[in-house]
Amino acid sequence: MVKTFKYIILGGGVAAGYAAREFAKQGLKPGELAIISKEAVAPYERTVLSKSYLHPEFPSRLPTFYVYAGPRREILFPEWYSEKGIELILSTEIVKADLAAKSLTSAGGETFSYQILLIATGSTVIRLSDLGVQGADAKNIFYFREIDDADKLYEAIKAKKNGKAVVVGGEHIGMELSAMLRCNNLDVTMVYPEPWCMSRLFTSDIAAFNEGYYAKKGVNIMKRTVVVGFTANSDGEVKEVKLKDGRVLEADIVVVGDGIRPQTALFKGQVEEEKGGIKTDGFFKTSVPNVYAVGDVATFPVKLYNELRRVEYAEHACQSARKAVEAIKAAEEGKTVEEYDYLPVLYSHQFGHAWEFYGDNVGDTVLFGDSSPESSIPKFGSYWIKDGKVVGAFWQGRIEEERDAMAYVARVRPSVQNVDELAREGFSFARKI
Ligand code: FDA
Repeated sequence: MVKTFKYIILGGGVAAGYAAREFAKQGLKPGELAIISKEAVAPYERTVLSKSYLHPEFPSRLPTFYVYAGPRREILFPEWYSEKGIELILSTEIVKADLAAKSLTSAGGETFSYQILLIATGSTVIRLSDLGVQGADAKNIFYFREIDDADKLYEAIKAKKNGKAVVVGGEHIGMELSAMLRCNNLDVTMVYPEPWCMSRLFTSDIAAFNEGYYAKKGVNIMKRTVVVGFTANSDGEVKEVKLKDGRVLEADIVVVGDGIRPQTALFKGQVEEEKGGIKTDGFFKTSVPNVYAVGDVATFPVKLYNELRRVEYAEHACQSARKAVEAIKAAEEGKTVEEYDYLPVLYSHQFGHAWEFYGDNVGDTVLFGDSSPESSIPKFGSYWIKDGKVVGAFWQGRIEEERDAMAYVARVRPSVQNVDELAREGFSFARKI
């Protein structure tokens, strides 16, 4: 039997929750909308998984972090969906999508049809076994994307109390998981090939603070080398991590945060792609009529920079979902909405230290404030300057008090006359704009 809906959201992650909230806000009849998700739980705030979910004493657990999408950031519990007549079709993986026939087929053989499809399938991790790394299928080598992955890691942390953990990758996930493993009192070593951590965003100065802070907290960092293999014990559990430079690290747990790729395989050859994602316009419409793509999978026009980009940030997942639904509903009434006007936002916190970034990290940089890892209350920032204008703003430590000003600077891109003066002014430059 074919189950038919007016709207289907494919994927049950961050974007799906915010899209559902927007559909409900804009007006939805019971039975019109379904969310189909491989995961067994309703949409939740994925960013919590690598942070408080692994807290040693007070780990966050559902229902406290189902997406909080409303104006007062109310939590969308599973009952919210049933009250709104939204069907949550969970533990259901779609294995075939026929966009011309407007139909989706699940691994269990069910068929779903729709009038409008919102693709929100997010990203999947890149596995070391796919890259041919020897021994990468040993037990206790973990990847981290969904709540099941977090549960498995949490169990391993408990089982390998005070053991040794190796984290592969020095980007966002590697940084957050290293901090949480260390908070759980594991002996943690990070391994990454780049000259410094978070090298896609951080300058060497920002990284110097963070690496110094991690060292102070007891995290070992091995840079400029890669993992080439693993050995396992007689139970098949990982025992050693072999590095390209010849060093060998003991390990009870390995966590790999070595990159992700957008989940677009279902739609290959059916929809236009760009920069690894599904190409959309500024309303998240794809090249196929009545098919929209949002969140990590969408390659969309960034008006501010006049170029197409694909980003893997939570804030974009929320905002793109809202915009797509606004556009869908407006089109039904013959109206139009403003095009998406995205300002990149990325945030994180580790060891109780938060940072935020707004804008574009291109051009020259200026560091200001107290960026010594030894300070009792470090607080510093960095601006990126391109063509004489501030285009990006990063800051770390007591973030709330600077957020509005720093976001505004990145949005309006003020001119800079004197870079030395900018470094002296620091946060006050942003506050006076
Ligand atoms: P998301 O990945 O949230 O959801 C995709 C959903 O689709 C999943 O439920 C998946 O199972 C489902 N799905 C995929 N294929 C399917 C199929 N064939 N059939 C059925 N279901 C299918 N960002 C940030 O800005 N700051 C941060 O601090 C963090 N921290 C962070 C921590 C961790 C652990 C992760 C994994 C990610 C982050 N991020 C982040 C990134 C952020 O979470 C990410 O950009 C959003 O979750 C993207 O939202 P989407 O809805 O696009 O995908």
